Amino acid sequence: MPRVAYVNGRYIEHRRAAVHVEDRGYQFADGVYEVIHLYRGRLIDEDPHLDRLARSLGELKIDWPVSRAALSLTMRELVRRNRYATGLLYIQVTRGVAPRDHKFPADTRSALVMTVRPIPEFPAEMRDEGVKVITIDDLRWARCDIKTVALLPNVLGKQAAAESEAYEAWMCDADGFVTEGTSSNAWIVTADGTLVTRPSGPDILRGITRQAIIRLAEDADIPFEERKFSREEALEAREAFLSNSSHFVTPVTSIDDTIIANGKPGSLSTVLHERYTEFMDSMPPALKRG
Ligand code: PDD
Repeated sequence: MPRVAYVNGRYIEHRRAAVHVEDRGYQFADGVYEVIHLYRGRLIDEDPHLDRLARSLGELKIDWPVSRAALSLTMRELVRRNRYATGLLYIQVTRGVAPRDHKFPADTRSALVMTVRPIPEFPAEMRDEGVKVITIDDLRWARCDIKTVALLPNVLGKQAAAESEAYEAWMCDADGFVTEGTSSNAWIVTADGTLVTRPSGPDILRGITRQAIIRLAEDADIPFEERKFSREEALEAREAFLSNSSHFVTPVTSIDDTIIANGKPGSLSTVLHERYTEFMDSMPPALKRG
């Protein structure tokens, strides 16, 4: 069974899937995206992801390429054709194909591309050992709340992390406060057991996993504060972790080569990872059986 992609109305064998050279996503990064986890046949938090897509499109005045209901059906059809139980669904909408000119083109339809990629289930090593993080300056623009495909600072940050044999780079603002990771939100647990993450605003992406974790923490009466924390505070934290749709709650056990606490995943990170897994297990399957 070949892998299948969706490109502007057609299902195409993945290795042949392509867009036009004048797609504005390609030339101007004039587009937005979403990544939804396909977990054991479930599309995790589909509605909040599509709500965020709607917001990103609205902020950039890009039209929906198809209706939201049609998009949701097409997502399912792509999942069905690819037959993976666990993977990542990638959705990208750009302002469309038009002769290169910075201003918005008139009468151009937005372009929709989707892929599904199989991924292994959460690696036991990440759960048991946690991951390494480095810190870097946040070089991004002032609207990081929009999930655009303009990811160059994130790409450079992730590469710097890889070159330091780290999993993620946490970006810091001019005052030394951590904004977020290059593809994840950043969290710490303070000495008194309070869960802390940066408030949502234009300087971070409002992660869908982040929102789910906040709900789970509230349900479990875990003390929680939405406030900025500095790199120094993170180095001295009782626990640290990161969150995103591909790796849920991932414990962070070292930051800039400083071991966090005893160097093992913290208990709160572990509990939240377990609760998040239960939450995913409680979701309905994306496809009807039969
Ligand atoms: N990234 N912050 C940034 C900069 C991100 O790119 C992401 C997700 C997150 C977490 O958001 P969510 O919980 O909704 O996945 C935070 C995706 C996974 C990616 O670019 O692959």
